[in-house]
Amino acid sequence: DTSLPKPVRVRLDVTDPAIIKLRTPESDEAGTRVRVLGRVHRARAQKDVVFLTLTDGYGYLQCVLTGDMVKTYDIMTLTLETSMSIHGEMRAIIGKAAGDKEAITTRVAPDADPQTLYDNRHLVLRGETSSSVMKVRAATLRAFRKAFEETRMLEVTPPAMVQTQVEGGSTLFGFDYYGENAYLTQSSQLYLETCLPSLGDVYCVCPSFRAEKSLTRRHLSEYTHIEAELDFITFTDLLDHLEDVICRVIDYTLAEPEIAGYIKQLNPDFKPPSRPFRRMKYDDAIQWLIEHEIPNEEGQPHQFGDDIAEAAERRMTDIINQPIFLTHFPANIKAFYMKKDPEDRRVTESVDVLMPGVGEIVGGSMRMDNWDELMAAYKHEGMDPKPYYWYTDQRKYGTSPHGGYGLGLERFLAWLCARYTVRDCSLYPRYTGRCTP
Ligand code: 4AD
Repeated sequence: DTSLPKPVRVRLDVTDPAIIKLRTPESDEAGTRVRVLGRVHRARAQKDVVFLTLTDGYGYLQCVLTGDMVKTYDIMTLTLETSMSIHGEMRAIIGKAAGDKEAITTRVAPDADPQTLYDNRHLVLRGETSSSVMKVRAATLRAFRKAFEETRMLEVTPPAMVQTQVEGGSTLFGFDYYGENAYLTQSSQLYLETCLPSLGDVYCVCPSFRAEKSLTRRHLSEYTHIEAELDFITFTDLLDHLEDVICRVIDYTLAEPEIAGYIKQLNPDFKPPSRPFRRMKYDDAIQWLIEHEIPNEEGQPHQFGDDIAEAAERRMTDIINQPIFLTHFPANIKAFYMKKDPEDRRVTESVDVLMPGVGEIVGGSMRMDNWDELMAAYKHEGMDPKPYYWYTDQRKYGTSPHGGYGLGLERFLAWLCARYTVRDCSLYPRYTGRCTP
């Protein structure tokens, strides 16, 4: 009706369909005509009434259709995900969603096999569960940035295309870079270390890439890596900082009522972990595994020097059922750059943070800060020091005791949102055999 005033476009602002609160301030005024644009999230038809829940990605709006409109062709054949504009009375549909065999509910039926669901990830993301996880993900990123900024850490953006490895050659993705060999970065750590002298403590939120051969529920080929590096610290400082950041991030995330609601839905039993986190040395973990008769990958009792495999690690974490700082791993199972413990040179000043249900979510350490020791480490690992000249230079020009860590965002979310696999915590997951959609 063109005689009516022009409507104000509004966005929905709440998750409770019973309350309609609008985002746009002008729309609060009585008599303002409003227009809501969204898609049909739920629809239920009774004799002369149709109940719709409309969503615009910000909230939900319950709409009740009555009268002659209920008998129109468009409403009688209404399908989920159909988009529409509502002016207080319904207007023409903008983009009708396919029905029958092609209906969204058929394409992404909850009992569909996982591969079909990952093929249709673009449609799965329209569901309440996946979109809630993505909203928690965004809130978690906000919270990390807030926690880091409050700790006076500076965000930097290291390159993704590199010519050095950080975490061993076996998981490198290589490619041709104008005729030279290059890789997709496994970790920005070495670059973060070069920032300390001029920028102070730094962090980054960047993708890391791992050519993982194994298909597990916690390995992706591309993941979001939150990494931090701190200067002039001790190993204890590093552990205290990590505990502080993790707890702040949880507090900030839960302080957003909308986000707290999603977490409650996804993970009803979630309780913020109590402090201090349990600190356990690798050597004591080996004893614990022996006592609890959890064998190593060969089916033998664990012994000092074993890499604690994913299954054993998760069993231990699930039984202990609280966050664990697992520290002091033997040098031979850890990366070349890790600093040795001055009190026991067999082990490194290293830490993995383990969370129930997921296992390792963080890997960190103090870094070797002595030039001679670093050169010996390259040699020991059979690495050519030449491409690392810029890293080695840090030990030449005012070296310092420093350390840092990397946290896998999808693993953190799998823990916070109680998801079975990290794949469901990534917008479009990449893992062995999947690079689509
Ligand atoms: O333990 P990682 O390999 O440590 C590093 O990369 C260090 N350079 C980080 C640092 O000190 N700046 O990886 C750190 C974390 C793991 O604890 C895990 O959460 C995550 O990154 N991660 C993965 N997440 C998903 N898929 C994979 N394939 C992952 N590999 C590591």
